[in-house]
Amino acid sequence: MAAQVINASCTQESDTTNATSAASALTAAQDAVTQGLSQVEALLNATYTDHHLETQVNAMCMHVINAGGKRIRPRIVLSAAQALPSYDAVRDHENICYVAAAIEILHTATLVHDDVIDKAPLRRGAPTLHELNGNHAAVLAGDYLFTRCFALLHRPRNFDIIAELSRTLSQLVVGELYQLEHEGDLNLSLETYYQTIYAKTGVLFELAASAPAFLIPESSAFIVPLKTFGRELGIAFQITDDILDYSSTSDTLGKDIGTDLADQRITLPVLLALQTYERTGQQAQKDALIAAIKQADLDAVRTAIADTDAITQCRAQAQAASERAQQALSALPASAERSLLSELALKAIARSH
Ligand code: IPE
Ligand code: IPE
Ligand code: MG
Ligand code: MG
Repeated sequence: MAAQVINASCTQESDTTNATSAASALTAAQDAVTQGLSQVEALLNATYTDHHLETQVNAMCMHVINAGGKRIRPRIVLSAAQALPSYDAVRDHENICYVAAAIEILHTATLVHDDVIDKAPLRRGAPTLHELNGNHAAVLAGDYLFTRCFALLHRPRNFDIIAELSRTLSQLVVGELYQLEHEGDLNLSLETYYQTIYAKTGVLFELAASAPAFLIPESSAFIVPLKTFGRELGIAFQITDDILDYSSTSDTLGKDIGTDLADQRITLPVLLALQTYERTGQQAQKDALIAAIKQADLDAVRTAIADTDAITQCRAQAQAASERAQQALSALPASAERSLLSELALKAIARSH
């Protein structure tokens, strides 16, 4: 009996010790990512030339970069690098920061162009570049940001990452074109929706998660699972973005809501509302929803979305993608850094902006 009591108290003690050391490992991993992010921020700010002819374009780029942004992609790059068993901070940290900064700049460039295409007035809580400087200057500022991305990427001298980035960029363009092609397409299939969000958003998350495995020696076995993690997280992230476009406010999001409907873009909330009416044989409601979509009547479309419980259905699909992302991480050894990646997949769907 006495032995049992002693054993129980030892187990309790060792459970507490394990929990404490797990918590401090998580804090250390978080601190390392935070420190990396401040270096990424410094690179984002230092990537401009001081040539007098470039003063205007530099100011435009700094406007959008310093307006904020969640920096989720560089966070993924840094966390994925640190979760790799052969990561060596002394050898790899600097290169990883360059790749993380390059990916954030690439993302920023796509936002600048996306806002021109979407005619969006607000980004990161600030007026968009085309709103301030006109479409021509904004498109050129976006192009300039691409050049800064390539300048940063030059530093790690890794041809695999350059090849991956070129492929990613092509797919992003294809994704945006695919979306344009399907504007107003009320017969959009779920499959086409998923193909589009993978191409316009998932691919960049795929690159952010897998780039460290291309860069860090002896990590090639982790390329595929990290790509799966990034792709599924990106899909969950975009479904959540599409939900927020119908359910949030401009103040919370830092960008206008209702732009998907204004641009006649059929995203998951509307698609599932249409499919629900179809499945339940509510033809009159379906016709009314189609008319509301065509007139871009946000209130009426929101009412139909609420009536069909489409947001709950969207959340279930985002949750499933987030779970697929987390499952892919089982290929990596368990660590505090791996837990951080898992948390990012959860945050992608729990976010309010
Ligand atoms: C916006 O990305 C574009 C989408 C893929 C939905 P973010 O939501 O990551 O934008 P920032 O960088 O935080 O502004
Ligand atoms: C994101 O799509 C696509 C890109 C990142 C290019 P959205 O058009 O939904 O992104 P937001 O809502 O403008 O941020
Ligand atoms: Mg947009
Ligand atoms: Mg959106």
